[in-house]
Amino acid sequence: MDFEKELIEKQTLVNMVLERIIDKNAPQKIIESMNYSLLAGGKRIRPILSISICEALGGKIDDILEFACAIELIHTYSLIHDDLPAMDDDDLRRGRPTNHRVYGEAISILAGDGLLNYAFEIMLDIAVKKNKISYVKAAYTIAKASGITGMVGGQVIDIESEGKSIDLDTLYEMHRKKTGALITASCLCGCIIAEREDMYNTVLQYGKDLGIAFQIVDDILDYEGDIKKLGKNTGADKQKNKSTFVSILGIEESKKIAKEYSMKATESAKIIDNSGFLLNLTDYLLHRES
Ligand code: IPE
Ligand code: IPE
Ligand code: MG
Ligand code: MG
Ligand code: MG
Repeated sequence: MDFEKELIEKQTLVNMVLERIIDKNAPQKIIESMNYSLLAGGKRIRPILSISICEALGGKIDDILEFACAIELIHTYSLIHDDLPAMDDDDLRRGRPTNHRVYGEAISILAGDGLLNYAFEIMLDIAVKKNKISYVKAAYTIAKASGITGMVGGQVIDIESEGKSIDLDTLYEMHRKKTGALITASCLCGCIIAEREDMYNTVLQYGKDLGIAFQIVDDILDYEGDIKKLGKNTGADKQKNKSTFVSILGIEESKKIAKEYSMKATESAKIIDNSGFLLNLTDYLLHRES
């Protein structure tokens, strides 16, 4: 199948699950606020990585679809909190006013908390029902990647690096943690749920390289992207005095490094069995405009 068509198909599938995923037995306001950000679009890259790696390694889509969608809840929580006035103070996300602009800070903090917890309710419920250790391992992988040695830790480095000059090691560490960790974990879930531990290190390397490339491209798009296509404000990093690849190494060097990491990811993807879609996805993520 043509890549674009397959990507849209996978996005549609993920969106269908997400539309009905939030428990209706909760206060109306929190359901509304969670769904406001969750159903606002978004590329759905993390669940799509889990699904496509699982499929490439011989797993079935039904074995991972719902679990993969839970990862998107964690990602969405991270975006809601990332946009808060105390953090990046952004007012546009996924083409809409940010969550706190609509629901106020208190509800948007709680919507983030709600999404994070609900993601683990879903993942652990699946693990209990399937009674398979692979799902427990996958949930642990996501928990660790989202936490203080992963995404939260990376966000701390990001906040502490505002208005400072940081060295290259810190820059890479920040990107590896704040964005790379969850992307890597999403990839690993595909491998773990497909029960292909033999491919673990290859998938791990793929995720790590893709994750770095992904955040460098995010930095590049903040510098030269188009607000309409991006659905978030550009120039925000400069305005907040953020330490980014562009601010530290310049736009041309950033593009070069993003390409290098994307190529490295491609080399790993080639080792994965049926990696046709994954290879195209890797390239699409380097050249994306949103
Ligand atoms: C944006 O992530 C935040 C980062 C971690 C770089 P995405 O670029 O995946 O955002 P959506 O999900 O498509 O909105
Ligand atoms: C976000 O990095 C990383 C997260 C964990 C959310 P950014 O702050 O650069 O993401 P955007 O540009 O606001 O999407
Ligand atoms: Mg940020
Ligand atoms: Mg931000
Ligand atoms: Mg950014």
